Amino acid sequence: MGSFLDSVPTSGIIRIRDLMYAVERPFRLDQGDVSFDAPDTFKAAIKAAVDANHSHYLQTAGLPRLRQLLADKLRRRNRIPVDDPDELLITNGGVHALYLASQALVEPGDEVLMPDPVWPQMLTALAASGARPVRVPLHESRGWRFDLDEVAAHITPRTKGIYVNSPGNPAGGVFTREDLARLAGLVREHNLWVIADEAYEDVVFDGHEHVSIASFEGLHDRTASMFTFSKTYAATGLRLGYLALRNPVWRARATKLLALTATNVSSIVQYGAIGVLEGDQHIVELYRAELQARRDLFYAGVGEAAGHVFSGAPPDGSFYAFMKIDPSWTPPPEATSPSQSWAMMEYLVGKGRIGCVPGVDFGPTGENHLRFCFARDRAELSGALDAMRALFR
Ligand SMILES: Cc1ncc(COP(=O)(O)O)c(C=O)c1O
Repeated sequence: MGSFLDSVPTSGIIRIRDLMYAVERPFRLDQGDVSFDAPDTFKAAIKAAVDANHSHYLQTAGLPRLRQLLADKLRRRNRIPVDDPDELLITNGGVHALYLASQALVEPGDEVLMPDPVWPQMLTALAASGARPVRVPLHESRGWRFDLDEVAAHITPRTKGIYVNSPGNPAGGVFTREDLARLAGLVREHNLWVIADEAYEDVVFDGHEHVSIASFEGLHDRTASMFTFSKTYAATGLRLGYLALRNPVWRARATKLLALTATNVSSIVQYGAIGVLEGDQHIVELYRAELQARRDLFYAGVGEAAGHVFSGAPPDGSFYAFMKIDPSWTPPPEATSPSQSWAMMEYLVGKGRIGCVPGVDFGPTGENHLRFCFARDRAELSGALDAMRALFR
């Protein structure tokens, strides 16, 4: 395994972060972190847990009360037919849940369908489990959703599973109920498993709905459904996620790995999570509405600010603007890469202090695009637009 990890690719996002540290007064539209803070209910429950000395080992899979609350939430909101809180594992953020799921479900050499563009961390997690990723394009013309005929055409006898991410990172596509019903049919027909990444379940705009694939007939038994507190409760650094896994074999494997990698997730944070779930949930809608306003602010300005070098429709979900770069834009001579999107990222970071991620980092379909995170506060977004105006004048 040690030397095998040498061949597992890492994302350019790390290199970009290093570039950003060299920039004075940067606009951090590169990283997927919201500017809000965690709700007071979360913070108060964390403080109470510290005072109550809840600083000891816990059950590997997580606090029973927390798993009970989450099982109720999955049944009520996501319509996933969870029978027992034992189906849930509490993890160190969504990233940890996705790693456990990849390790538990994949056999080396298995073909796994995944969207293109895709969040690179998932590509890495699957590659680290020995999977052979097979990219299926998302189409900008379809709001960055799959063409389901194309998905069907990519299924071969070697295909074992599919990674479903909706709302999506980086492009913000939200799969419709019809998309997911058709996908569920393909999964049943070809006896596949699913890793469902629902990190952005609460970030959907303009009345779109988030639907969980595990809510379809028979799908909960075949799916590892991943959720996180990071985006819903603006708590990226607290590291709290969860995995719903009914299949007992997969769950035993994932539990073993959870014990090996973490023993249990931070007790203090788990008590905090109970506090936030028992508290008023109106904050989730406040965050969502503010993100929609920030999306609209960014899109209202970006076309004119960048001299129409960037184009694209606002996303239906998640908090990224995934914009096409005008093909006639020519990179400056000092560009270090033949990739247009990488050259544009270097230009915006180096000359405009504007963080962004080149589309090429998310796969071949992403080339000639840039990803900007609009979850930053309004002043930072406006500052980035002003910097673009100065740059493209
Ligand atoms: C698509 C997607 N899935 C999962 C995650 C996991 O987030 P976390 O580990 O903070 O829960 C992220 C974070 O950016 C993401 O973009």
